[in-house]
This record gives sequence, structure tokens and C-alpha cells, in this order.
Amino acid sequence: MNNVTEKILALKERRKAVILAHNYQRGEVQDIADFVGDSLGLSQQAAKTDAKVIVFCGVHFMAETAAMLSPDKIVLLPDLNAGCPMADMINAEQLREEKKKHPGSPVVCYVNSTAEVKAECDVCCTSSNAIKVVERLGDERPIIFIPDQYLGAYTASKTNKKLILWPGYCPTHMKIGVDDIINLKKEHPCAEVLVHPECRPEVIAQADYALSTDGIIKRVGQSLSKEFIIGTELGILHRLKKENPGKTLIPASKRAVCPNMKSITLEKVLWALERMEYHVTVSPEIREKAVKAVNRMLEIV
Ligand code: 13P
Ligand code: SF4
Repeated sequence: MNNVTEKILALKERRKAVILAHNYQRGEVQDIADFVGDSLGLSQQAAKTDAKVIVFCGVHFMAETAAMLSPDKIVLLPDLNAGCPMADMINAEQLREEKKKHPGSPVVCYVNSTAEVKAECDVCCTSSNAIKVVERLGDERPIIFIPDQYLGAYTASKTNKKLILWPGYCPTHMKIGVDDIINLKKEHPCAEVLVHPECRPEVIAQADYALSTDGIIKRVGQSLSKEFIIGTELGILHRLKKENPGKTLIPASKRAVCPNMKSITLEKVLWALERMEYHVTVSPEIREKAVKAVNRMLEIV
């Protein structure tokens, strides 16, 4: 155990803190976390933990969601610049304008959105439950789906619902090209292809399954295949390799690295615990509305 890790573990006890990490975090950060998971798993953990402090190793919207679900806890994000560019592709004012164009349409927001945007929505979803959430809504009006056009398009293709898509996207998943998958499939004809639904539709069309990060981890663990082409951010390979030492894991593109997720380091986690920074909060007015959309999702799943 290195010095920084030792200090983190000792300080974590003193502060009565829990460390939550997303599947895209650096391997060494995942290794010191109490829980590693996808957006849904992380929000469920944030809602149920009895720790006093949550150190969130992920991006800003994830820490905000934790702060909304646990308003009496201190939520720390070790790097305030760890944002999600997709979440910033729509703001509350833009969404209000969109709602005016489609009166009466329900609004589903991908959890990759700011608290202010969530406050304008009816129900939230993650990549693991978007289909389930959308299926629960009525058929009278088309559904506004924000901000990820590709998760939206994939969800529409798996349901009978009409979705109005916002043109947001994940710059990291855009780096996975359809040719990357086609070429790897030629080299590894027996490999199962698993991609994240934030990928472009032509990439998803080449895959056996489109799954959330936890969904991909579960599938690799349960599948009888020995080889997998993994179409998502590279951080997921850390857990995949640890949990499946006998399987061959091939990244669809080595360029699929989210710089925001990777900006959290062990040193920054230690600094966050020492200084009790950066404290992420959501104002009570925004929280009151936004948490309803998140809780509706948690009730559905
Ligand atoms: P998951 O909820 O599937 O982990 O996805 C989060 C994310 O940010 C994907 O880019
Ligand atoms: Fe946002 Fe994409 Fe990074 Fe996920 S991988 S946090 S969607 S930029």
C-alpha cells in the first residue's frame, strides 16, 4: 500500500466518509473506493449510505445527484473541473424553450444533466433503465428526451414511443467509429461485441448488446464467450480484467478516454478529504423539483 493510499484510508475513517467511484475512474482510484458502479448503482448507494461525507470520484452531475439524494451529507468532488460535456449541452433556459414548442409533452432527462435541468423534467433515467422509464409514459404525446440523442435514438428503437431528441452527445463515445468495430470483428470473429448506448447508432448496430457500464460488466461475467470487444470508455477494463482473468478483453478504440473522469487522482482524493473540498451543493428550490425526477426513476427500477 503506498503512502497516499494509507493516508486516504486513515482520513476516511476519521471523517466518517464513504468513497464512491464510477466504472470509468482510474484503476488506482477504483481500488480505494468503497463502491464502484454505474450511474444508477452510484445514486442508489448515495441514497442509502449512513456515512457523514461522500467523496464522489466521478463527474459533477453525479456528485450533484448524490447531494440531492442525501441533503444532510457533505458531498465532495475532488476536482471541480470534472464536468460532463454532454450534461452541459443543454441548460434550463434551453429546455424551457423546448417545452414551449411541445406543450404537454413529458420530459425524460438522462442522469447526465445538471440539477437545474433535472428540475424542469418529469422523470430521470440512466443508460440501464431508459427503456423501462420511457415505456412507463403514456402514448398521448411525444416524449422530449434530453440531452443524449444517441441514447434517445436507441431507446426509441426499442420501444413504440415517439421521442423528440435533443442534439447532445458524448465526445468520448464519439471516438468509437464503426470501422473500429468492423475491423476488430474481422480479427476476432468469435468475440461478443458489447457497447454503451451513448455510441452512435451505426456502432450499436454492429454490437451484440448495448448496455450500461454495470450491464457490460455483468454480461462479461455471465457469458460463455471467451473474447469481448468493449465499446465504451477505457476505465471499465480495470474491473473487467480483475473480475475475469481468463477472458480476452479488446477495447473498441484506445482513444475512448474521458478526460473529465480521469482528472480525479489519488492525490486529489486525499486533498479533498484533508480540506473537505470541493463541497457540491444543490439549492433547496432546485433540489425540491429535481429530486422528484430522480426519485420517480428510483421507484420505477
Ligand atoms: P453508466 O451509467 O452506464 O455507467 O454511464 C455513465 C456515463 O457517463 C457514460 O458515459
Ligand atoms: Fe460525460 Fe461522456 Fe465522460 Fe460519460 S464518458 S462523463 S457522458 S463525457
